[in-house]
Formats: sequence, structure tokens, C-alpha cells
Amino acid sequence: MNTKTALPAHGRKHEDVLAELAGYAEGDPDYRHGRLWSLVYYLDEQHEAFLGRAYQAFSSANGLNPTAFKSLKRLETDIIAGVSDLLHGTPEVCGVVTSGGTESCLLAVKTYRDLARRRGVKRPEMVLPTTAHVAWFKASEYFGVKVRLLPLDGDLRADVSQLRRRLNRNTVMVLGSAPGYPHGTIDAIDAMAEIALERGIPLHVDACVGGFILPFMAMNGRSLPRWDYRVPGVTSISADIHKYGFASKGASTITYRNLDILKHQMFVHQDWPGGVFASPALLGTRPGGAYAAAWAAMQHFGKDGYCVLARRTLEAFDRLREGVAAIDGLRVLGDPSGPLLAYGSIDPQVNIYAVGDQMDARGWNVNRLQNPDGLHAMITANHLQVVEPYLRDLRDAVQAVRANPALARSGSAATYGLISHLPLRGMVRKQVLDLFAQMYRAGGGDVDLHQMPPPPGGLRGQAQRWLERAAQWYVQRRQARGGRR
Ligand SMILES: Cc1ncc(COP(=O)(O)O)c(C=O)c1O
Repeated sequence: MNTKTALPAHGRKHEDVLAELAGYAEGDPDYRHGRLWSLVYYLDEQHEAFLGRAYQAFSSANGLNPTAFKSLKRLETDIIAGVSDLLHGTPEVCGVVTSGGTESCLLAVKTYRDLARRRGVKRPEMVLPTTAHVAWFKASEYFGVKVRLLPLDGDLRADVSQLRRRLNRNTVMVLGSAPGYPHGTIDAIDAMAEIALERGIPLHVDACVGGFILPFMAMNGRSLPRWDYRVPGVTSISADIHKYGFASKGASTITYRNLDILKHQMFVHQDWPGGVFASPALLGTRPGGAYAAAWAAMQHFGKDGYCVLARRTLEAFDRLREGVAAIDGLRVLGDPSGPLLAYGSIDPQVNIYAVGDQMDARGWNVNRLQNPDGLHAMITANHLQVVEPYLRDLRDAVQAVRANPALARSGSAATYGLISHLPLRGMVRKQVLDLFAQMYRAGGGDVDLHQMPPPPGGLRGQAQRWLERAAQWYVQRRQARGGRR
């Protein structure tokens, strides 16, 4: 902790504060030059400055009460109308701007839980594909809705043939992703919706990633399965503007097929001494700046601008997908439609997490996957400039690991190998929880989650070695069984 700046006894000059702030960013991932493959959707300085100006103009405005700042309600109405148009909604489609994908997902679960209460459901359940974003599991915990997992088929899509047997009278919703975060595959929404409709169960499509790129890929002529409001059983869709819509952080949308469903998202408390209170979403204060920047991004790009971005993104995606598939020892996971790409190893000599370490050492910042083990790339138009150097480094990284398999037993490869294969999932959860909590000590802990050292007072010495041996045993047993758990 920097005690000098925690809360200075005396205020400081604007320039002084801004200079120190700029310094804070020095150690951050280099997203401007395409070295980061998640978290940030960046175009260029000019676009950042444009968003900044739009944000600033409304940075104090509060969308808590839609009747106070009419400007914000107008921005929200425009945004929802634009999103509904993209998703082929009818005039009945309605919705709300939220602070991000997670808020949109949480709200859908709350809405469907409350809708089902009307028909007397007291122990709500929802069916999620294994690849559903973690936000849905968070919603399960927050709102007490039990998860029934839908396994994946050979293409890593939700296995629709298994859906019917997971539905029962307590099912409040079914989820499909367009696309799913881990492997970038679009679930068979058509087939899922047919079953959901037949049983009268709502179907939500998580298009947090896809909402602002799949429509433009389709406009550019890419053939995609249907996943939006054209599919009769789809009752709601989440679509993030702060991802492929290139807005500032803090902007997503949740839309519903009609107001009868959306009503269950709303909160009203009529007896509060502070006044009668009504709120459409999770947050109280809603940031006007984020709405203004989202609206500005949509107005600036328009359909043709987003089509150009989608074309550039898909060019990078196609080249990376082909390039990865051509590297001896690697395979693309599933059948991604873009813009997300996941790949793993098919060579026992090539540990994919060790490849990840080698990529990190070459200045890339790649995400790790588990079940199956893999590396991940969230591709944007900004990555077009780095396709060749990325593939060159990936080839080198694979060769380095093949030449030195011991790399799999060191660095974060060892940690990832351990945590992804350890059969004692409760132990992994506890380790991560302890470590994560330490980062939130007063004063802030400097903890590298990738390294996962035993927590103080937690696993040490023998117990740690025992866990590692257990993980090795488990991996060997799995290999002997041909990869099955
Ligand atoms: C499919 C999907 N849904 C939901 C989310 C959550 O979005 P956010 O990080 O904006 O809360 C993500 C984030 O990557 C996602 O990929």
C-alpha cells in the first residue's frame, strides 16, 4: 500500500494526481498493441478519447430514477431499440441497460425465478450448459436457483439430446450461449428452444459476447445458426455493448420478448421512509457516463461501422484458427464460429499450460482453460496486426516445450496442472478462496493467483506434496482411461 496516497492529509494538485495515476498503469497488460487476449476491447487512442468525452458529459448523471434524468432514459430507450433491431426483436421486445454482462445474467435468473414463483415453484432450478459463463453460477448462488448441468457434445456444444431429462416442474429457465466463452461455440438454440417452448419454459440466450458481433458477421455473409428473437422459444437475450460494441466499461443490455416477463425484474418498495422506490435493475445509482458512452459508440459506428469491425475481427480469427490448427501438436477445441478461439494439445509431449508459460515469457498474455486443458483467445480487430508474430511465437513455444517436457512441472504450468486435475475440487475452491481473500486485506495483498502458494496456516509441506501426488495419480489414471474422467 502506498501510504502517501491512501488518503493524503492535504489535497494535491490535479496535474500531480493525474501524473501519479498514469504511473499506476505502467505495469498493466499491454492491450493497446494486441498483446492481451481477454478483458479489453480496444481500438485506438482516438476512439478512447471520443468515449471519454461522451462519458464525461454525463459522468455525474444518475440513472437510478428514470423520471429524473430524462436524458438518460432517452439514451436507454435508444440503446434498447437499437439492440432489439439487431436481435430481430418485434415491437414488444423491451429491456434495460445494465452495468455489464454479469448484471444482465443475474437479472435474468432473478426474473425467471420470480416468474416461476407465480406458478408455485418453491425450489427453483435452471439448466445450464457446462460452458455457461461463471456469471450464471454466481446467479445460482445469489438467488438460490439450483443448477442442472447440461453436458457437451463432441463439438463442445450443449448436448440437446440430454435436455429433456433435465427439465422438471421446478425448472425456471434454460440457457444457451451465443457463443459460449470457453470455446466460442454457439449452442443449438433452435433445438433447445423447441424443447423449452414445448414445455413452456423460458429460454435465455447469453449473447454477452456475440450480441454486438454475430449480427454483423451475418450481415457480412457469414453463415451462422439462428440464435436471436427469430427463434420462437427465445424469451430473453443479454448483449454487452462494452465488449464488441466498443463502449466504455459498464454497459450491457438485457432484453425480454415482452413486458410481462420484464416486470418480474423490477423492484418496488412502496413503504420506505425515503420515499416510494422503484428500480429496474440490480444497481441503485446507475452511471450516466456509461450510458452516454455506449450510446455514442453505437451512433458512431452504426451498422456499417460494426460490419467493418466484424470483418477485420473475423479475418484475424480465421487466420489464427488456421494457423493454430497447422501447428504440429495443437488442435482447435470445438467448432468455434468466432470471435473466440480455444486450443489444446494432442501431443503427450506438449503440455498446453507450459506452452502458455512460454507465450507469457514472449510477452503475450493468454488465458488458461480447463476441462479440457487449453489456451484461449478473445480476438478483436486490434489483433489483426499481431496474427503473424503470435503464430510465430506459438510455434516456437510448442517446440520449446516439446524439447523440454520438464517445463510442464514448473512455473504456472505446474499450478494449472495441479488445480485443473485435482479431483478434490473443494480443496481447490478453498485454496483459491483463501488466496483471493488475502488480496482484499486492508492495505491490499500482493498475491499472484497463478502461483497458488499454500495459504498461511493452510496446506504445507507434506500435505502439499500429497496433493500433488494425488493430482499426478489422477492425471495418469485419466490418461490410462483415454482422457475420460
Ligand atoms: C458469455 C458471457 N456471458 C457473460 C459474461 C460476463 O460479462 P461481464 O464480464 O461484462 O460481467 C461474459 C464475460 O466474458 C461472457 O463471456
